[in-house]
Amino acid sequence: MCISRSDARRLIKIGKVFVNGEKAKAFDTKISEADEIMADGKKIELAKTVYIIMNKQAGVVCDDKSSAPYAPDTLPDNLKRKDLFCVGRLDKDTTGLLLITNDGEYAHSVISPKKHIEKRYQATLENAVNENDIEQAEKGIVLKDSTNLLPSKIIPITPDKKTVDFIVTEGKYHQIKRMAGALDNKILSLHRYKIGELELPENLSFGEAKRVEKEQAFLVFKK
Ligand code: URA
Repeated sequence: MCISRSDARRLIKIGKVFVNGEKAKAFDTKISEADEIMADGKKIELAKTVYIIMNKQAGVVCDDKSSAPYAPDTLPDNLKRKDLFCVGRLDKDTTGLLLITNDGEYAHSVISPKKHIEKRYQATLENAVNENDIEQAEKGIVLKDSTNLLPSKIIPITPDKKTVDFIVTEGKYHQIKRMAGALDNKILSLHRYKIGELELPENLSFGEAKRVEKEQAFLVFKK
């Protein structure tokens, strides 16, 4: 029998898990492949954690209740599993680096506001950015609803200053679009290409995904 990490945690709490005949006391008890794990009298294996990088294409969503295609459902058959979900959300029209996993703790940490994980987006804007926009970002933009954002960076990429990088360390709802709105500008396209030290691989086309090792997925926590 294979169970999820959250089920394992619940069963440990109520004293139903035994490792080599001894009652498991904590979820983080180190377990090796050789250990015999029993839960509720049945031999169990912990579900293997899976980490997938997708280059999300526009039109695909991170909300499983939407009528639009849900990102994990668009994975090729060899990567598809029932227990996968998106780590945080990208808007329907946003493209780029999307993490998909079955590791709830990992996902929780990546999106935790306490971790201040850096996310890099490239955006095209309706109007060129100016020095004042860049300074406001450095001080912390105040959104139209008066939310104070943490300091961020806006880096012009093209000479016309309409293609820029946004570097942010939080992940508020529609954050980049609302930042542009606060600067009386508008996002025309948005693409995420880096989270922490994890970069979207250049050879991954829109809509493509690949499984990565845990070490690579955990590069998101590197500064
Ligand atoms: N900020 C946005 O506005 N949209 C996204 O999809 C991600 C960040």
